[in-house]
Amino acid sequence: MGDGATRSVLLVVGGGIAAYKTLELIRRLREHGLRVRTVLTDAGARFVTPMSIQALSGERVFSDLFSLTDESEMGHIALSRSSNLVVVCPATADLLARMATGLAGDLATTVLLATDTPVLVAPAMNVRMWTHAATQANVATLRARGVAFVGPESGLMACNESGPGRLAETDAILAAILRGLSPDRPLAGRRALVTAGPTHEPIDPVRYIANRSSGMQGYAIAEALAAAGADVTLVSGPTTLPDPAGMHTVRVETARDMLDACRHALPCDIAVCTAAVADWHVAPATQKIKKTADAAPPALQLLPNPDILATLSQPGPTRPGLIIGFAAETEHVLAHATTKRERKGCDWIVANDVSPGTGIMGGTENEVTLIDAAGCEHWPRLDKTQVAHRLVARIATFLQTPHPKPE
Ligand code: C5P
Repeated sequence: MGDGATRSVLLVVGGGIAAYKTLELIRRLREHGLRVRTVLTDAGARFVTPMSIQALSGERVFSDLFSLTDESEMGHIALSRSSNLVVVCPATADLLARMATGLAGDLATTVLLATDTPVLVAPAMNVRMWTHAATQANVATLRARGVAFVGPESGLMACNESGPGRLAETDAILAAILRGLSPDRPLAGRRALVTAGPTHEPIDPVRYIANRSSGMQGYAIAEALAAAGADVTLVSGPTTLPDPAGMHTVRVETARDMLDACRHALPCDIAVCTAAVADWHVAPATQKIKKTADAAPPALQLLPNPDILATLSQPGPTRPGLIIGFAAETEHVLAHATTKRERKGCDWIVANDVSPGTGIMGGTENEVTLIDAAGCEHWPRLDKTQVAHRLVARIATFLQTPHPKPE
């Protein structure tokens, strides 16, 4: 499989107006250091030329099942097994039907029948062809056989009809390919934002308002996301923890700085807000406030801080696809956490009891309940790193299942 360190993709280009988008895909795959070999179907060749594919991929293009040259250089069986991933893009209704039935009348279908490597399919077709029971049955058959799908997306198509059937965006196909090439890194190609730690709200140049958050749970989640292949930005309030390896860490002090840093990290696919953000700040004095023997102690005028989780959760084009908040409570944990999920507009809430007796705040263990729109799931008391890995596994499963985006 493949050839040593260079990971390689065998791209099967089907017919359809979306075929021209594979040129950009090939360019992006090459930028990622991947070798791209292409099988062009007869129908695909009506939309893109072998010469443009060859120029971009730097490889000769395969198209003829019976070409003696191809057979002498590399047989179709060897070709089907020469890569780490076979990608069918665009996959037409006809190509899906032939794949599902096991037909092998041309080089593309022969390769798809003979391959022993994972297959990823990016369908593109008219909306009625996609929703037709025949196509849906073929898709179900292929999925059951382990074929992975990316898209199609909904939108206006070249045929002027609108609905599901449009080829997924190049970014989404690229990310799916990167994941397909690293099954042990299910979040490869995904961007994640994690907030962690407390915030410090200055009162004057030497004093501040803070809380007891250590940042440990947030750092553990950021590390677990990175280990699963995500491109992570960790926005951290002041902690004693070192910057974790393999991610971009942004250190901030106040809640307002934290919100700014989060906005800079958008767009992203996943946002996990574990930070214990101070609810209030004060307008800080520019000089140290002095004690005076005869005057009353100064009163602090508290002003509200922005709610980062609620801000990120507002509907809009940059809203992350999955937003997870935390609810540290000392009483009525589930009731408060459930209403918090709705109030803030996030997708999941991880609720925990931080009463002093639990030893959770500042400790190495956590006992949480995961709350989503469907209900609650209580997890046993676990190490914070185990909570992080379990949460990341849930995130990966969620993102692998297609979810319609709210309009
Ligand atoms: O409102 P409360 O602080 O209990 O909500 C907790 C959740 O909201 C956590 O996910 C926390 O990171 C987030 N939060 C925030 N910005 C705030 C307050 C809380 O992002 N100003």
